[in-house]
Amino acid sequence: MMFSKSARLLATAFAVASAAPYGWGPHHGKHHEIAADDFVETDGLRLKDNAGTVYLTGLNYWSCLNLAADDSAGGNHTRFITELDQMAAKGVNHLRIMAASEGAPTWQPFRMHPALMQSPGDYNEDIFVGLDRCLAEMSKRGMRATMTLNNEWQWSGGFAQYVSWANDNSEIPYPSSWNLSAPPQREVPGTGWGNCTVEGVDAAPYDNFTEYANRFYTNEQAQEWYRCHIDKVLNRVNTVNGRKYKEDATIMTWQLANEPQNAIVPDEFLGEYSLELPPAPSDPLFAWVESTSAYIKAAAPHQLVNVGFEGKQGKWYYQKVHNYSTIDYGTTHCWVQNWGIYDMLNSSEANLEAAKTFAKGFIANSSEWSAEIGKPVFLEEFGMARNNWENEDKEYTYLSSAGTSNKDEYFETIIGAAMEKFKDPAGSYTGSCPWAYGGIYRPETQHANEFGDVWAGDPPHESPGWYDLYDTDEAMNIVHRQQLEIAAFLRGNGHW
Ligand SMILES: *[C@@H]1O[C@H](CO)[C@@H](O)[C@H](O)[C@H]1NC(C)=O
Ligand SMILES: *[C@@H]1O[C@H](CO)[C@@H](O)[C@H](O)[C@H]1NC(C)=O
Ligand SMILES: *[C@@H]1O[C@H](CO)[C@@H](O)[C@H](O)[C@H]1NC(C)=O
Ligand SMILES: *[C@@H]1O[C@H](CO)[C@@H](O)[C@H](O)[C@H]1NC(C)=O
Ligand SMILES: *[C@@H]1O[C@H](CO)[C@@H](O)[C@H](O)[C@H]1NC(C)=O
Ligand SMILES: *[C@@H]1O[C@H](CO)[C@@H](O)[C@H](O)[C@H]1NC(C)=O
Ligand SMILES: *[C@@H]1O[C@H](CO)[C@@H](O)[C@H](O)[C@H]1NC(C)=O
Repeated sequence: MMFSKSARLLATAFAVASAAPYGWGPHHGKHHEIAADDFVETDGLRLKDNAGTVYLTGLNYWSCLNLAADDSAGGNHTRFITELDQMAAKGVNHLRIMAASEGAPTWQPFRMHPALMQSPGDYNEDIFVGLDRCLAEMSKRGMRATMTLNNEWQWSGGFAQYVSWANDNSEIPYPSSWNLSAPPQREVPGTGWGNCTVEGVDAAPYDNFTEYANRFYTNEQAQEWYRCHIDKVLNRVNTVNGRKYKEDATIMTWQLANEPQNAIVPDEFLGEYSLELPPAPSDPLFAWVESTSAYIKAAAPHQLVNVGFEGKQGKWYYQKVHNYSTIDYGTTHCWVQNWGIYDMLNSSEANLEAAKTFAKGFIANSSEWSAEIGKPVFLEEFGMARNNWENEDKEYTYLSSAGTSNKDEYFETIIGAAMEKFKDPAGSYTGSCPWAYGGIYRPETQHANEFGDVWAGDPPHESPGWYDLYDTDEAMNIVHRQQLEIAAFLRGNGHW
């Protein structure tokens, strides 16, 4: 059922009147509801809305559409509302959420369940309503969204699932992933712990998976289905507040995919950290970014479009993938453990210093790359494990009881670096967005629901509790202090 126009106005008035508990907003103090037409635009190396310069105090909350769905559809609506209020109280004004997930004819491991799209064109209305609720509740709390439309990785289905659909449901060669039901198991079924699947035993090599997934870029059938999905989501009319998605300023950005990878495998990796790729102008990634972004821009001209790129691939790839007129701003993801710079089981000062040095260099470099192509950049993923060396002799490596001193120092460093490149007029950073809000979830009390998911901050292909940000974590105070510091800066500079 949709609200009539006047009911909607009433709803708006109510939300404004009751906005006080949500904490301080980015411009004027208290959070304000996002008006349907208060779109964010780029302004040189910055973002702005009707109230002035926008700094994104973000959090990843990818599972929102499932959490906000009815309990009978695997959701947890009470938890969803509690967590939105928690995030708003810490000054969060941006959430990066999934606006896609794909199912298969047979049950697939390592995934969000149920999927938004069970098979091409076949949608689960319960989950779509979950997405409606996310946007409606975010809007009330002054939060805008990045809507991620696809995924390089297996945890939502993503590229590999499209490729499988397009190839008679061929088997997906999953890389090593977290299997919640593998040994060791706790006494109560469904409460973990599990272990990783092992390459050569029950997992394929990583490169096999990316090769399979990246066929997506050039598979015509897969591209047609993907564009149908884009049409479906852009034209969705929110069942809670009646707003059409493509006309709702709560949606700041349409994101092509989470971490699309290069489809040309390099002979060698370059740079101090062996992460950079040599230039490869014929990489099908680029034609896909160009055509898809133009497609979305034409359909939703008031909203922003970006890629979802990590930026680890170095300057050439970063600039090439973001230099299209239909890409509004760049993104970076910074993963010191996954990229071999940091070891979560190593308590030495040198280990932490290596992570901090990398992060500062990565932010400084990417700020410059982005400024050169005249676009803002958003640090939309980064994370660090807890002091998990403290868990080494315990039953599970990712227990929430471990301290966070390294993580906190790292967060201060990387968020501080992004803020610096925001305050500096020559810098191009426009906010930060840690991975990922777990809120009231804890591994110790987890229980897989009837669909097999626990909804940790970590997606279902990774060990639950690895990168989670809990409501009581100091990291959330660091996020909040960032927002207060930037608000004071903007006030001081007459930006509001
Ligand atoms: C996970 O582990 C269980 C128990 O060992 C096993 O039965 C199942 O096949 C595994 N799942 C995957 C996807 O490897
Ligand atoms: C978990 O898997 C690793 C191999 O990936 C193995 O070395 C380890 O013994 C396993 N742990 C348990 C408790 O089974
Ligand atoms: C991985 O790819 C190689 C080369 O294409 C192939 O020989 C091998 O069978 C694949 N392994 C799996 C587990 O898919
Ligand atoms: C970006 O695009 C502009 C306009 O098409 C072009 O002039 C410039 O050389 C490009 N920059 C890079 C780094 O590719
Ligand atoms: C811990 O990290 C430091 C810095 O990278 C390294 O020198 C040291 O060997 C590491 N210790 C262990 C036990 O891996
Ligand atoms: C930043 O760029 C400098 C100069 O190219 C390079 O030496 C350094 O390794 C880069 N830092 C990172 C984290 O990539
Ligand atoms: C919702 O989440 C909370 C916290 O994890 C949990 O205690 C509760 O049982 C969950 N409810 C449902 C319906 O899953």
